[in-house]
Amino acid sequence: MAIMTKGKLIYEGKAKKVYETDDNELVIVSYKDDATAFDGLKKGTIAGKGVINNKMSNILMTHLEKCGIPTHFVEELSDRDTLVKRVKIVPLEVIVRNVSAGSFSKKYGVPEGIPFEEPTIEFSYKNDELHDPLLNEYHAIALKLAEKDEIETIKEYSFKINAELKKLWKTHGITLVDFKLEFGRLPDGKIVLADEISPDTCRLWDSKTSKKLDKDRFRRDLGGVEDAYIEIMKRLCE
Ligand code: TMP
Repeated sequence: MAIMTKGKLIYEGKAKKVYETDDNELVIVSYKDDATAFDGLKKGTIAGKGVINNKMSNILMTHLEKCGIPTHFVEELSDRDTLVKRVKIVPLEVIVRNVSAGSFSKKYGVPEGIPFEEPTIEFSYKNDELHDPLLNEYHAIALKLAEKDEIETIKEYSFKINAELKKLWKTHGITLVDFKLEFGRLPDGKIVLADEISPDTCRLWDSKTSKKLDKDRFRRDLGGVEDAYIEIMKRLCE
């Protein structure tokens, strides 16, 4: 493959920048150490996070590709930069849960840490101005955020991703509590997994001690944020 270098900055999000390349169908994602929570109200930096999230997301997407899930991943270019397929993001945040935690516990008044017999799935409308409101599939179709068959594909992939990642993390002594996914459309309309899978977007607890090894340490001011990112990456590589 030709050497890919960063062109024009197309988009800057809260945790990543996206650059054009010479190839119109490929872009470079560059991971930052910036962290936000609660719709950007809480801001901070997690030193070294960008490097860890880049590497972890690439390892997990490579694994998922082997399991038959199409992803945007093409090639890791450096510590922080990855070449990915250019997609149009489906404006839905897809959340899969195996154990009660976070907004689920808050909304339904149940303690964190109760395992579910079956995983759950929910969608929110990816829209900062509206604060990412929850919606169901019918709402998503009514709002023309996605077609019915796209939502079916997204659900099928999301549960398969959950099964594969839950299994993988278990071998490293980690419970995959919940996570958020985003999907994109390739120019031919094919749905692929996009964005990232990292401690920013997953709840990852030590299976024995339930120690939180993810962004909740930042969200909830639990301390040891950087160490948790280092620890979870080490565990994945063991
Ligand atoms: P929640 O319990 O706050 O709804 O979060 C569910 C999962 O989604 C959790 O693993 C963290 C992740 N998440 C994101 O990746 N981005 C977000 O903006 C939010 C609110 C949650």
